[in-house]
Amino acid sequence: MNILIFNQKGGVGKTTTALNLGVGLARSSSFPVTLVDLDPQTHLTAALGLKAEDFAWNVSDWLANRKGSPHIIGDNLSLIVGDSQPETMPTIVPFPIKHDGFFIIDAPPVWNQTVAHLMTQADWILTPLEPEFLSMQGVSRLFQTMERQSIPRSRMRLLLCRFDARLVVHREVRENLTQRFSDNLLNGVIRKSVRLAESPSYGWSIFDYAPDSSGANDYQSLTNYWLRQKHLKTQE
Ligand SMILES: Nc1ncnc2c1ncn2[C@@H]1O[C@H](COP(=O)(O)OP(=O)(O)OP(=O)(O)O)[C@@H](O)[C@H]1O
Ligand SMILES: [Mg+2]
Repeated sequence: MNILIFNQKGGVGKTTTALNLGVGLARSSSFPVTLVDLDPQTHLTAALGLKAEDFAWNVSDWLANRKGSPHIIGDNLSLIVGDSQPETMPTIVPFPIKHDGFFIIDAPPVWNQTVAHLMTQADWILTPLEPEFLSMQGVSRLFQTMERQSIPRSRMRLLLCRFDARLVVHREVRENLTQRFSDNLLNGVIRKSVRLAESPSYGWSIFDYAPDSSGANDYQSLTNYWLRQKHLKTQE
């Protein structure tokens, strides 16, 4: 099952979600989990305590179908490290992605050919959102983009991040999203959590950094959601 984590807006929680969902799935199941750092900012690679420059084989090599393998992080977790100099990054993904477990791609906050190709191949598009009114427009635009590429809306899941239930505006946006996109909006949200903002600087996931935090709790719920989807898919 492959999941493309995408939102054209920057700083919404894509990398945080890729990291903690990836680690969550690897901890909670025996499925192999591969994380892919598609973003030249290489934040996902850094959040796992690694330096992109230290690796000879990276995401550009993967896209070019050059021989090599992901970096092993743990028992069933590996990472295709990012490329901080993506000038030579192929724009076309020339192969179908096949993966027995979870293949999770952390996309950059831009729309480009590579993202477009990966989106057509994705089983799921997971879009983290900030609880702001402008996010609604972003979602509508994203659905239009998908429509142009004939990607069914049913593949999209929206995840509210940095949610603070004390803020009226957050509650209103959630309510609005529920009304407009009820089939796509995930029930669970990721609450605003200082621990989540701190953990990447240590190269740790939230499960290692603050296992009792609300962030760990919320990402565990998200993990359980995707494990249920995987279970449903294998039953098909
Ligand atoms: N639930 C949360 N609570 C508090 N801070 C968060 C939360 N989620 C993410 N952050 C922080 O917000 C910032 C942006 O998050 P993140 O890097 O995951 O976004 P992004 O969408 O990947 O950004 P970019 O578009 O630049 O790749 C980071 O500093 C991160 O630690
Ligand atoms: Mg990011």
